Amino acid sequence: MTRRISPAGSVRGAIGLPGDKSISHRYAMIAAIAAGHTRIRNYSTGGDCHSTLGALRALGVQVEENGAEVLIGGGGLDGLRAPAAELDAGNSGSTMRMLSGILAAQPFTTRIGGDESLSRRPMRRIMEPLSRMGAAITAREGSFPPLEIRGTRPRPIDYTLPVPSAQVKTCVLFAGIYADGETTVREPVRSRDHTEIALREFGADVRVRAGAIALAGRPALEGRELTVPADLSSAAFFIVAALLLPGSRLTIRGVGLNPTRSALLDFLAGMGADIRLTAVESHAGELRGELSVGASRVRGGAIAGETTAALIDEIPVLAVLGAASEEGLTIRDAAELRVKETDRIATVAENLRRMGVRAEELPDGLVIPGRQRFRGAELDSFGDHRIAMAFTVAALCAEGESAIHGAEAAAVSFPEFFETLERIKR
Ligand code: S3P
Repeated sequence: MTRRISPAGSVRGAIGLPGDKSISHRYAMIAAIAAGHTRIRNYSTGGDCHSTLGALRALGVQVEENGAEVLIGGGGLDGLRAPAAELDAGNSGSTMRMLSGILAAQPFTTRIGGDESLSRRPMRRIMEPLSRMGAAITAREGSFPPLEIRGTRPRPIDYTLPVPSAQVKTCVLFAGIYADGETTVREPVRSRDHTEIALREFGADVRVRAGAIALAGRPALEGRELTVPADLSSAAFFIVAALLLPGSRLTIRGVGLNPTRSALLDFLAGMGADIRLTAVESHAGELRGELSVGASRVRGGAIAGETTAALIDEIPVLAVLGAASEEGLTIRDAAELRVKETDRIATVAENLRRMGVRAEELPDGLVIPGRQRFRGAELDSFGDHRIAMAFTVAALCAEGESAIHGAEAAAVSFPEFFETLERIKR
């Protein structure tokens, strides 16, 4: 589907957003193996989190949906049953990588596949630790989906993550739930900690010390009532639109502010962005609050090292911001971007070029000079939700109309994106 985007004067008003994608996946998966019912409010409306619900249903879990509220009837650690067919993770790397941890511990064999983009994403990173735990996994060409996972009673391991990845960490911890004894994951670079927080909320014994996360096996997980905060990575698109369009003032309610996710706000504030935070509260171990963003002159800067890992999902829209910033933006240590839903270094650079914006592609990043103007252009999502939304923001700031081909990709994380934009666009 092609969407035509005309430039905007400003964005103004107050909005809520769909639930955080990362937290929604985790709540649903843990609820599925907990005893009793879990009610999840503000569950992500995105396609990815529905891929997770579909896979859980196929594993025999009771899942009822009522708008953004999901009720899951968990059958306890040993309540899953062998699916009748291959599980479909759709576009969702999180579904495949995290659920594989649980599948590796089942007394049956499961096949799990996905769409064309997911079928190109690397899975060795989960196959390796899961094999060490005793599961037998085969993959296309030894690394790519679909996976066939022959489960086992996992052995506990002490595992150091070779790539900073919260999905891999979660996968190992999920398998560790089923192990006799303690499973430890060590992360040289800190990644989002929603799994550790959620497991504790459901009753597991999780201890974190100096980058090592230790989980005691066979916890008694129990269903509970939870509300997912709004997704900060989805908010990022509107935050950048509000910063760039003169006269903007935007309020975003109930946004997740977990410190392992909120590097975006610190980074923007450091560049001179007018972002105010109020009504901060904690629910189920996760912080949330209200953001108020006003149009700002942003300086630009550099993203590298641990900051890159902390901002990884926001980089496409930060690249757009960088081109309009005073000093431009350099992004390094971001080779992981090449194995996301698309090669995001290439797809960002390509769309910037189409808009007449200079950007130099590096093997692990981008160099984007500042003070550039966006020209309306024919843009492409390349089937990647974050590329669709990042370049919608660029199109709002452009001279002349743009077209985004494949705009429907936004629905993977944020089906209401374009509607929400219409409400605040002036
Ligand atoms: C996620 C972790 C990140 C992120 C993805 C969601 C998660 O991926 O890019 O959108 O929910 O754990 P990696 O674990 O591959 O870094």
